[in-house]
Amino acid sequence: MSQTVAPPIPSLVPETAPFSDEQRAWLNGFFAGLVSLDGAGVTALSPEQSAALMPAAVNEFGDSDSGEAPWHDQAMPLAERMTLAEGKPLRRKMMAAMAQQDCGQCGYNCEDYSNLIVTKKEERLNLCVPGGKETARMLKSLYEELGKASAPAAKPAATSAAPSAPVSATPTRDNPATGKFLARTRLNRAGSEKITWHIDIDLAGSDIDYTVGDSFGIVPTNDPALVDAVIKALDAPADFPIGGRTLRAVLIDSVSLAPAPDMLFQLYSYLTGGARRQKAKALAAGEDPDGDAATLDVLAAIEKFPGIRPDPEAFIEALDPLQPRLYSISSSPRTNPGRVSLTVDTVRYRIAKRDRLGVASTFLGERVRENAPLKIYVQKAHAFGLPADPKTPIIMIGPGTGVAPFRAFLHERMATRAKGRNWLFFGHQRSATDFFYEDEFAGMKAKGVLTRLSLAWSRDGAEKFYVQDRMREVGRDLWSWLTDGAHVYVCGDAKRMAKDVERALVDIVAQHGARSTDQAIAFVAELKKQGRYQQDVY
Ligand SMILES: Cc1cc2nc3c(=O)[nH]c(=O)nc-3n(C[C@H](O)[C@H](O)[C@H](O)COP(=O)(O)OP(=O)(O)OC[C@H]3O[C@@H](n4cnc5c(N)ncnc54)[C@H](O)[C@@H]3O)c2cc1C
Ligand SMILES: NC(=O)c1ccc[n+]([C@@H]2O[C@H](COP(=O)([O-])OP(=O)(O)OC[C@H]3O[C@@H](n4cnc5c(N)ncnc54)[C@H](OP(=O)(O)O)[C@@H]3O)[C@@H](O)[C@H]2O)c1
Repeated sequence: MSQTVAPPIPSLVPETAPFSDEQRAWLNGFFAGLVSLDGAGVTALSPEQSAALMPAAVNEFGDSDSGEAPWHDQAMPLAERMTLAEGKPLRRKMMAAMAQQDCGQCGYNCEDYSNLIVTKKEERLNLCVPGGKETARMLKSLYEELGKASAPAAKPAATSAAPSAPVSATPTRDNPATGKFLARTRLNRAGSEKITWHIDIDLAGSDIDYTVGDSFGIVPTNDPALVDAVIKALDAPADFPIGGRTLRAVLIDSVSLAPAPDMLFQLYSYLTGGARRQKAKALAAGEDPDGDAATLDVLAAIEKFPGIRPDPEAFIEALDPLQPRLYSISSSPRTNPGRVSLTVDTVRYRIAKRDRLGVASTFLGERVRENAPLKIYVQKAHAFGLPADPKTPIIMIGPGTGVAPFRAFLHERMATRAKGRNWLFFGHQRSATDFFYEDEFAGMKAKGVLTRLSLAWSRDGAEKFYVQDRMREVGRDLWSWLTDGAHVYVCGDAKRMAKDVERALVDIVAQHGARSTDQAIAFVAELKKQGRYQQDVY
């Protein structure tokens, strides 16, 4: 008896359709069954038609997430972001827990950082500087869920930032180069409320290479006076040995002294009892039993629990690592070869009779000596840079230290004799004291490099006046530059300024471009998509 051999299933789904072999075989069988044909007279589906019939393809993370991130807004509170991420895979919830600035301080953008945590290529959950303790806590709790869930069938994350990438000689956050601190020059005049420095750093021998738009990483050290106060409060010997070094040396260059991490309060909760134990436990859980949690740096935390003497080694282990800080580069390698400049505002504020110092800004502005070695690296810009075509006009909006990358852009365009027009919006507190790079910008105007300079002084008049107010005043011209193809850049404060500037631009597009608000929002969104609206905000 002859056996009937089933004809091979015709291939109705093209090889180019985005399916695995298994999925393609299943679909071919499904369609063959559906049409009960041997394939004759049947036209294969297009890849798009096939894809439309399947649930979303599984990606390299083993999920079918659409890639949309409606929570990706630096002004949205964490709770709202987490609500928007409900029902999404853990890696997307982790992304929502981050500060959404794509600032690069952790060494990645938010999406890559979360993907790397979930694929266990990055173990550190406390790297999101703008997210702070709130983000670290949320990441920790999501990470615990990850442990409970079955391990994701993830292929290597598609990210250039993966630590498993081939080791390169390029200095990085985790493997910085050594440069030399050259000089600091105060940018404000006497009487200013601000202390902002122009900083010059020598790159000789560092293998560091940068482009305008990039940020510069500095590995700071803690203020020795604060370190000594911590040692005194701990009642520990400064030379207590920790991993072959002294307690003082470790406190100077290895751990963060602000703010006090949850782990430190947890340590205190183990070392005390009664009401103090309950208080320490509450603080470790992110609660605020005395309404002072936000003011507790490491020294204030030790002082809050007097008489408790943790072992110095356990104490150090409870602290977070000291992280590098990023600064927008304010020079161009073409006009400043072998060197880099930064524009750094000193963070200094007072809480309960003690001055609190921003660690990196006071390190650069006050502590590091001329010719001292510095640990440095470049954080490549994430979609922030001059247009490829030198003829393209650019509009730069950078109040305060936000001016930094635009000084670099102007130097670059001057050096390359780019034909494009350049318009800078700068603003700060007072014209008499806070006009950074005033002479330089005047020179650039005289040379025709800086086509237009629009200024906004917030404290010169009775009412606050900001860059976005100036933008509205000259909205017609701004719109005309946009219709000429101008690229728009915004740098500085992420939380308020960047949002307000975007709102002003939407209003200008609506008013002068004769559009409804919705159409103007869509217009600005399209500018962003085309890379014509770029932000470097922090
Ligand atoms: C991409 C990028 C580019 C940047 N470019 C620049 C730049 O060009 N110039 C520049 O100056 N900075 C820039 N920054 C910010 C910079 O990285 C640092 O965050 C900044 O210098 C403060 O760091 P710090 O170590 O001195 O302060 P920290 O020790 O980190 O202390 C800062 C923290 O102190 C607290 N704080 C500050 N002021 C007060 C206050 N008045 N009351 C209570 N708490 C307060 C806040 O929690 C704040 O986060 C940039 C950041 C990023 C991500
Ligand atoms: N989110 C933050 O906490 C944050 C944001 C930006 C910068 N920083 C830190 O602050 C330091 C210095 O900042 P900076 O030198 O760049 O100056 P800045 O303090 O940001 O101020 C620059 C100018 O912007 C004005 N400004 C305030 N709110 C604004 C808004 N909503 N829209 C537009 N302009 C606004 C300020 O006016 P008035 O001050 O008179 O109102 C001032 O004239 C740096 O250490 C930086 O890291 C922190």
